[in-house]
Amino acid sequence: MAQDTVKIGLILPMTGPFASTGRQISTAAEAYMATHGDEVAGTKVELILEDDGGVPDQTKRIAQEMVVNEGVKVLAGFGLTPLAFAAAPIATQAKVPMVVMAAATSSITEKSPFITRTSFTLPQATVPLARWAADNDISKVVTVVADYAPGIDAENAFVNEFKNQGGEIVESIRVPVANPDFAPFLQRVRDAQPDAVFVFVPSGVGSAFMKQFQDRGLADAGIKLIGTGDVTDDDILNDMGDVAKGVITTHHYSAAHESAENDTFKQAFKDAGGDRPNFMAAGGWDGMALIYQALEKTGGDASGPALMEAIKGMEWESPRGPVSIDPETRDIVQDMYYREVKDVDGELYNVEFGKEEAVKDPAKAAKN
Ligand code: PHB
Repeated sequence: MAQDTVKIGLILPMTGPFASTGRQISTAAEAYMATHGDEVAGTKVELILEDDGGVPDQTKRIAQEMVVNEGVKVLAGFGLTPLAFAAAPIATQAKVPMVVMAAATSSITEKSPFITRTSFTLPQATVPLARWAADNDISKVVTVVADYAPGIDAENAFVNEFKNQGGEIVESIRVPVANPDFAPFLQRVRDAQPDAVFVFVPSGVGSAFMKQFQDRGLADAGIKLIGTGDVTDDDILNDMGDVAKGVITTHHYSAAHESAENDTFKQAFKDAGGDRPNFMAAGGWDGMALIYQALEKTGGDASGPALMEAIKGMEWESPRGPVSIDPETRDIVQDMYYREVKDVDGELYNVEFGKEEAVKDPAKAAKN
């Protein structure tokens, strides 16, 4: 007799302002299964996708429903930090692993011993950038971040590290998360005349930011734009136009990353109906890779504690490069790349020009 099917409950914003995240991750998860099959260690794997619309109460309700009524063995997805926070108590109560594929606030993995992550953390991406800025003739910076947990993480990480390196923060501005009007904020930045603006906005919001950066004449005023790679998200980068050229970001995944694993990933993503995968898609693909490898290791035992033990210390070659799961924090350890937006054969890409290797979440390292 074949063993029971292992159901993976994928909860994502498929509608609402962050639907691009849901589309990228669900396409990548389906692409992973199309490439690797739906059987692991003699066990059938089934993916169940549900739309939470980006509303935390919905995420929690769906997670509860999935584990109680549908017998889901692994919860996955979580497109935004508040959605991951909302589901965390369900993972703890049900002892069901929760694989965070998108949300990137440092503290998420501390909300339940059943949480692991295949995206990144904002401090992980930001600290290397603050060092790069200080080393590259940038001495005065205004920070602009989305006003919620990952934005605050990014602001804190940038401000602390940049000051440690002798830099000056002229002003720190926080903007609303969804549909922000950047114009008045960017006018203030222009008046403050910094060397650079550091920006974090969640995936999808970058286009609106870049348009206002252009319209307010910041580039013409000689103000550089630097940020985490969320602002030059591969999903929307190619439509940003010339204003994006030369923008320097740090992040864990670029569609332009050169490796056999990334070629396989990009082809599978296309075959599954996607266009260009972004860092969210990479988190979705790797989340599935982690679940598959954990099931392999337990011989198909999908009980929560067994899977969590298998996940700790797991290492693999991702489309982004080598990654592992820190056994102490259950958070992802990965290379952070320095990238510049360039025209590659008529399309805009984040072209990598350097990296910091095996970066752990610095926010947790500071606490431990
Ligand atoms: C988050 O809400 O944690 C989040 C969302 C989108 C990003 C990064 C972080 O691009």
